Amino acid sequence: MRIILVGPPGAGKGTQAARLVDHFRLPHISSGDMFRSAIEAGTELGKTAKGYMDRGDLVPDDVTIGMIMERINQPDCAAGFMLDGFPRTLPQAEALQESLASAGISLNAVVLIEVPDSEIIRRVVGRRLDPQTGQIYHINFNPPPVEIADRVIQREDDTEVTCRSRLQKYHSETAAILSFYDDLGLLRRVDGNCSPDDVARSVIRALS
Ligand code: AP5
Repeated sequence: MRIILVGPPGAGKGTQAARLVDHFRLPHISSGDMFRSAIEAGTELGKTAKGYMDRGDLVPDDVTIGMIMERINQPDCAAGFMLDGFPRTLPQAEALQESLASAGISLNAVVLIEVPDSEIIRRVVGRRLDPQTGQIYHINFNPPPVEIADRVIQREDDTEVTCRSRLQKYHSETAAILSFYDDLGLLRRVDGNCSPDDVARSVIRALS
């Protein structure tokens, strides 16, 4: 199964992917996580991506497309994958479509997790991550357990100012891919403005 999760920043793509990869037994490929790992490792890719990410801008298409194409061509993706955060622009969606078509394979579905902008800022600014496990928390909606509360971190781009810029990019750039996938009959819309369990149930229903 080849699935894409799309949605605004903080929609819950990472939260849902963590649940869905267990359910569907697919590798979870998050472009944002890949860029953050590259930054931490101090690679050239990380150095290129950092400035864009800190400003809430998109990393250029050629860099992003190359990184993802290399990843999905690895053996663990042969039977399928769950993409989270890629594609985000029309050229990215077209490059993915072309690459899959040339390999004689296709996507099964593109799931759009819809959350109103008014909710997004609260989710993003309150997000905390456990650097040891990658587990995602929220200071109000899903607080970290007391024993790990000292080690959770906040992402550098999770400020209100940067989140507004990311949200603006989402509306200006990513909206185009929704009609692209709708025209291909692949788009499934899911209400993301409810509990994570309810969202997971809706996504599984949308994919079945
Ligand atoms: P990326 O890491 O992909 O960030 P994003 O798309 O902005 O998404 P987030 O990771 O912020 O949110 P999420 O939807 O995963 O939400 P989460 O589950 O964590 O990208 C970061 C940057 O990298 C980009 O800005 C760009 O610079 C670059 N980049 C990445 N991909 C790129 C690409 N393809 N092209 C170019 N540049 C790219 O949840 C958020 C919070 O809400 C958490 O605290 C969680 O606990 C809480 N929460 C989740 N679900 C619920 C719920 N149902 N109810 C209440 N709270 C909830």
